[in-house]
Amino acid sequence: MRKKIVAGNWKMNLSLQDGVQLAKEVESLVAKGVKADEVIVGVPFIHLSEVAKVLSRAKLASQNCANKASGAYTGEVSVEMIKSTGAEYVIIGHSERREYYNETSEILNEKLALILEAGLTPIYCCGEPLDVREANGQNDFVKKQFEETILKLSKEDFQKIVIAYEPIWAIGTGVTASKEQAQEIHAYIRGVIADKFGQEVADNTSILYGGSCNPKNAQELFAQPDIDGGLIGGASLKAEDFTTIAQSY
Ligand code: PGA
Repeated sequence: MRKKIVAGNWKMNLSLQDGVQLAKEVESLVAKGVKADEVIVGVPFIHLSEVAKVLSRAKLASQNCANKASGAYTGEVSVEMIKSTGAEYVIIGHSERREYYNETSEILNEKLALILEAGLTPIYCCGEPLDVREANGQNDFVKKQFEETILKLSKEDFQKIVIAYEPIWAIGTGVTASKEQAQEIHAYIRGVIADKFGQEVADNTSILYGGSCNPKNAQELFAQPDIDGGLIGGASLKAEDFTTIAQSY
């Protein structure tokens, strides 16, 4: 179902104590009422179970998961482990993981299957680097990412995922895609989904924008017809900024 979603991605920041404190502040602000249907915090693995204890209205996500179900994979964290903490969402395919940890489409497909099998919701990230944008190749780039991964899902499974479009040149740079640039590619993405799975599925898919989204620009981005919310990095580390974004509809 299409929802207004604001999801935080804390990345590799905050001690456990500071993370729990931030989660408490987010929960108390969100509990007062926000316009977003779902507010999600995406936290480091070791924070998951403690943060779960302080959340109620806000939901919990991990930022990654293993591509294997269980067993001899030293240092990895499985989807079932993530689920056992109370997390409901798993962010996958973030450009930082694709770039620094060689996360290929093949690995993403393994992760997608495990997340869906466990009944959790993948937040699938996509987006182009600067040189591709400068050559106006963003649509083809994102379509290829989709063709190698989420367009291979069954129609039933596809309807369970959330998409986050995050142009790499806008992530952590302070440069945001303009509302026109963001709307254009979100509409394109919805069209790709419609071509594959039909208009109804496309109309029901939540597509979030990520990349230097902040309390100042969230409202104009979220006002676009094909932008359903945001995946928020830097601004998710301050409870007030993050919850202001969740009010920006
Ligand atoms: P940013 O990060 O908001 O700091 O640009 C977004 C993301 O990487 O999810």
